[in-house]
Amino acid sequence: MEIIKGTKVITVIEAADLAQLQEAGAIIRRGGLVAFPTETVYGLGGNALDREVATKIYAAKGRPSDNPLIVHVARPEEVEALVTRVPAVAEKLIERFWPGPLTLVFAAAEQVPRRTTGGLDTVAVRLPAHPVALALIEVGGCPLAGPSANLSGCPSPTTAQHVIADLAGRVDMIIDSGRTGVGVESTVLDVTVSPPQILRPGGLTLEQLQQVIPAVTVDPTVVQDTPPEGGRVRSPGMKYKHYAPKAEVVVVEGRPTAIVTKICSLYDDYVSQGKRVAIMATTETARLYGQRQTSIVGAREDLATVAANLFDLLRWFDAQGTEVILAEGVDMVGLGLAVMNRLRKAAGYRIVKA
Ligand code: TXA
Ligand code: MG
Repeated sequence: MEIIKGTKVITVIEAADLAQLQEAGAIIRRGGLVAFPTETVYGLGGNALDREVATKIYAAKGRPSDNPLIVHVARPEEVEALVTRVPAVAEKLIERFWPGPLTLVFAAAEQVPRRTTGGLDTVAVRLPAHPVALALIEVGGCPLAGPSANLSGCPSPTTAQHVIADLAGRVDMIIDSGRTGVGVESTVLDVTVSPPQILRPGGLTLEQLQQVIPAVTVDPTVVQDTPPEGGRVRSPGMKYKHYAPKAEVVVVEGRPTAIVTKICSLYDDYVSQGKRVAIMATTETARLYGQRQTSIVGAREDLATVAANLFDLLRWFDAQGTEVILAEGVDMVGLGLAVMNRLRKAAGYRIVKA
């Protein structure tokens, strides 16, 4: 164990190391905060049934307290105590997709503090596919409220180093289990409406959900290329910035060849203005940028690689002192829907159509 700014950091990689989680469980039981790995991104965990803990979580993240927290459970049966009703469609989805990157929004039971739900009468619940997360919930003895373990507005953390950078000194413990696999957060699906609606695209794709619910809908703001309240933001207002690195992000959308041409000309313009620019490219296009500063986020033909590297690369550009990131858009199919949703927000909806 290591202590960084007063926060304990432990490493738990193997299932055999789970004994190490006893101390983490004790912290949860006494109302403390433990950052933990999931298959999507790292979460900031605390007792979901304790309103004071919810207050601590909002404070540690610097997050507005009207943005609700996801409640993590280790067994499907735990859902019943948290909600007033489990619709039949939710039972089907749980059967098919849990454990996994799917969060379901239900009508909340009375025992769930309204501070955990951001004041709403609904509660978001998920069962993560990560042995360390499941073991922590068991040893803590309660469902875990778990927003992503980043400072509010910053890219979500996919390594313990990201969590340490944001939250050391603000939480009791951080569990390091290496890189998370999926890289974007869970898909949030509202099952209080019929047909169910995707509120946030994520690690479980629309196409996968359609196999179980052909009529599933997507909240229109998810696919919009303008900020939720309309009116394109020209200098990205902080109001809409999420997942955002310190650098300015510009997303260039269109066909790959057109994207490359557009990015090259934008790049050269920024360079002539004396800016430190870098390109977030894909495996298929990277060589077309010649000598320009280019990093590969993943492959267009395997968008899971793009999702897995996206947040890490955004943070890496900041570490390099990059001032402007020119990011290639990808097709909004499969994981591309979640990737583009995050990229557009990171860019404050600064989108260029190629
Ligand atoms: O993959 C994930 O979901 C990660 C890991 C740690 O589990 N967690 C995560 O939590 O991304 P957070 O708090 O960063 O994002 C939760 C999202 C927010 O967009 C929030 O508005 C939405 O879920 N949400 C939570 N409760 C909700 C509710 N009752 N109704 C509608 N949306 C809700
Ligand atoms: Mg988050």
